[in-house]
Amino acid sequence: PPAAPPAAPPAADPASSLLVRAAHGAPGPHPPVWFMRQAGRSLPEYRALRAGTAMLDACRDAATITEVTLQPVRRHGVDAAIFFSDIVVPLAAIGVGIDIVAGVGPVVDKPIRSVADLDALRPLEPGDVPYVTDAVRALTGELGATPVIGFAGAPFTLASYLIEGGPSKDHARTKALMHGDPQLWHALCSRLGAIAAAFLRVQIDAGAAAVQLFDSWAGSLSLVDYEQFVLPHSREVLAPLAGTVPRIHFGVGTGELLAAMRTAGADVVGVDWRVPLDEAARRLGPGAVVQGNLDPALLGADWPVVERAVRRVVAEGRAAAGHVFNLGHGVPPTADPDVLTRIVELVHSLDADGAGA
Ligand code: CP3
Repeated sequence: PPAAPPAAPPAADPASSLLVRAAHGAPGPHPPVWFMRQAGRSLPEYRALRAGTAMLDACRDAATITEVTLQPVRRHGVDAAIFFSDIVVPLAAIGVGIDIVAGVGPVVDKPIRSVADLDALRPLEPGDVPYVTDAVRALTGELGATPVIGFAGAPFTLASYLIEGGPSKDHARTKALMHGDPQLWHALCSRLGAIAAAFLRVQIDAGAAAVQLFDSWAGSLSLVDYEQFVLPHSREVLAPLAGTVPRIHFGVGTGELLAAMRTAGADVVGVDWRVPLDEAARRLGPGAVVQGNLDPALLGADWPVVERAVRRVVAEGRAAAGHVFNLGHGVPPTADPDVLTRIVELVHSLDADGAGA
């Protein structure tokens, strides 16, 4: 009989990665680093691959998703891969009339204005997004010990696109509906929360080692409104995932909401550039792990300016129980990819505890 194959080496395990350890507040040699929107428009290899393909079509093709997700890991040596998709992909997958228009963002055919409109939002089944399962599986196989971060849009941010019909600066219609018809608001957000939870589950079941819930536009709300209208629904997404993989929760302009966002069930709270990480740690309270928060605008400055800012972010992050280095929001399209690579190298040279830095 043929000789038995040699025993396979133990699979490299993302559960012992710097990212997952930092999320649990465990010490590491240096902070893990990744960038929101690292897979995307700042990379020439991404623009070449995407040429002629609509964004939503790219998000429905497992081979494209896999390649785009891997590009920044190869190029920058980041400590995590963010799954390439968009927050509106699960909505499109259940048949909501939605498109991503170049230079604009998500645009909805028939904005939600009444209870009858909720019929468009049926539950998401894993079979609705086979390309997500396939791509996460392919990625976890390719990446070995490097974690794949799955993500979803939080109920408020998804609701704002569905109610406004597209991007909005003031979220006026969203707030008017929230206050004017709280019953419809809560019904809408319950459905969106279930869809977001199902989308995260699909990614975790396929091998994602962490997840991030993006409530990008929650910073437009007062704390009182956030606690009453939004937090319960974000909690419905994150709380059931306790004990699975680390949960990161992020929004822009959320300085007043940080402590509340943590109580949604976040192991890591993302912070934009407006609040220094030591102050964020103080607002969050004991044991909090933070992610952030280099101002993306600084990527366009001379390297000595960038270096000083990166060192400051890492130093301020030491005030928290753990720190995942990131930008305060996504990589801008104009960013020089070489600056991102240099930032990764710099963060990797800095001690997490400050002892030798
Ligand atoms: O880098 C790219 O622009 C590539 C492709 C692309 C994405 N989204 C990737 C994405 C495009 C064209 C979009 C459309 C889109 N969707 C926009 C406009 C983008 C623009 O600047 O023209 C917006 C605002 C959305 C809605 C959206 N998608 C939000 C609010 C979020 C949460 C993150 C954030 O920026 O606040 C997303 C997630 C998203 N879109 C990701 C990616 C790759 C995943 C998260 C990440 O990589 O950090």
